[in-house]
This record gives sequence, structure tokens and C-alpha cells, in this order.
Amino acid sequence: MGQPKINIAIDGYSSCGKGTLAKALATALNYVFIDSGAMYRAVTLFLMRHGVDLDDLPQVEQALSHVQVAFEMDDSGVSFVTLNDENVENEIRSIAVASKVSEVAKIQAVRDKLVYLQQQMGAKKGVVMDGRDIGTVVFPDAELKIFMTASVEVRAQRRFAELVAKGDVVTFEEISENLKHRDSVDSSRENSPLTMTADYRVLDNSDMDRDAQFALAMAWADEAIAANSQF
Ligand code: CDP
Repeated sequence: MGQPKINIAIDGYSSCGKGTLAKALATALNYVFIDSGAMYRAVTLFLMRHGVDLDDLPQVEQALSHVQVAFEMDDSGVSFVTLNDENVENEIRSIAVASKVSEVAKIQAVRDKLVYLQQQMGAKKGVVMDGRDIGTVVFPDAELKIFMTASVEVRAQRRFAELVAKGDVVTFEEISENLKHRDSVDSSRENSPLTMTADYRVLDNSDMDRDAQFALAMAWADEAIAANSQF
């Protein structure tokens, strides 16, 4: 029998590399990586496409009953998010979706639906999930919780470079403002705000490269797995 698997929760501010770290850990441990933000973005895309009024709760709830969000894998093993069976991985990364997603993520009915799905995905352990409320709400019992952060300049620069490389027409100011806006809405909302409890390990990667951040997180993961194996 192999070592018992754990769940790893990675929470933190917008665009601080949570997904990159989560993916690397999942690959190294042979766990499943789940990008919970992609699920909020997919729901946002659906509501935008259908012109749903976010202040009209019955309309939002009615729309939600028509939303199916899932993850699939392409031939090279790269996962992508689907909205009612359509691959929306590219579209959900647009600035248009980014500018609405935090308003959508405030709605409790949206959170209830997605948290339920996320908890099912992690029920058998062996999951690395990144988001804002993973260690506080989705998997409060996660054996390893990491809170990631980096300076807003570093984060905006990274996201700007990422979008420009994809061919998106965006300005640095637009990206920087979007990150600050989302950080503020995500941290101050009433429902499951981005927050940290004493059981998180903090990882500030402003001055760390990917290898250094991976080595640190992997050491924490090994420690958590070993501690979990004693029982
Ligand atoms: O990639 P980035 O860090 O910019 O954001 P994301 O992880 O794709 O999440 C997009 C948005 O979804 C966040 O700004 C939050 O408003 C919301 N979100 C959330 O409320 N709870 C989560 N577990 C994940 C994302």
C-alpha cells in the first residue's frame, strides 16, 4: 500500500502564481490539480453570455440550474475547464471575465454550487486545489494549507506578460487595477472572504523563482504526508 494521500489547499491573492505551484505539486505527487477560480470564471462567462442581472437573485438561481462546470483532459494530459461540455479555458481568462468574476463570486448561491462540486472532487483526497476559500471553507481539514502572496507590482507584471504573450490587447494599468479591485472585493466580501487562519503556511514569492517556491512547498508537503502517515 502506498502512503495515504492528503489534500493541499492553496489560497491567496489574485495572480500570485497559485496555479503554477499547485500544478507542479500535483504533478510531483501524482495528485489531481483543481483550479477553483476557473469554475467561478466559467459561471461568470455563462451569466455574461445570458445577460443575467447579478442583483436579481431568482434570475441568477434559475441560470445556475442550467450550468454544468467540469474539468477534462486533452491528449497531452493538460486539464481544461468545460461549461456545459464546451471548452472555455481561453475565454475565461479574458479581462472581460476578470472584471466581473469577483462580483459573481460574492453570490452565496454560486459559492454553494461550486463548493459542493469541489468537496466531491476532494472527497477521496489526493487533490491540490487553489483559490480563495479552499483551506477555510472547501477543505477545512486539508492536511497542508498554503497562503500565497507577492507584491502587487510583481503580480501585475506577471499577469500582464501572460496576457500579452497570448496576444490579448491590454494595458499594464488595466491589469494592475483589476488585481487591486479583485483583492479588495475578495477580501472584504461577507461570504467566504479571502482570509488566513493560524494553520496556514505563508509563502511570499515576490523574490522567489519557481524552483525555490516549489522546493519550499514540496518540503512542506513531504512533512504533511509523513505526519499523516503516522495514523
Ligand atoms: O488567476 P487569478 O489568481 O487571477 O484568479 P482565479 O483564481 O482565476 O479566481 C478568479 C476569481 O474567482 C477571484 O478573484 C475570486 O473572486 C473568485 N474565486 C473565489 O471567490 N473563490 C475561489 N475559491 C476561487 C476564485
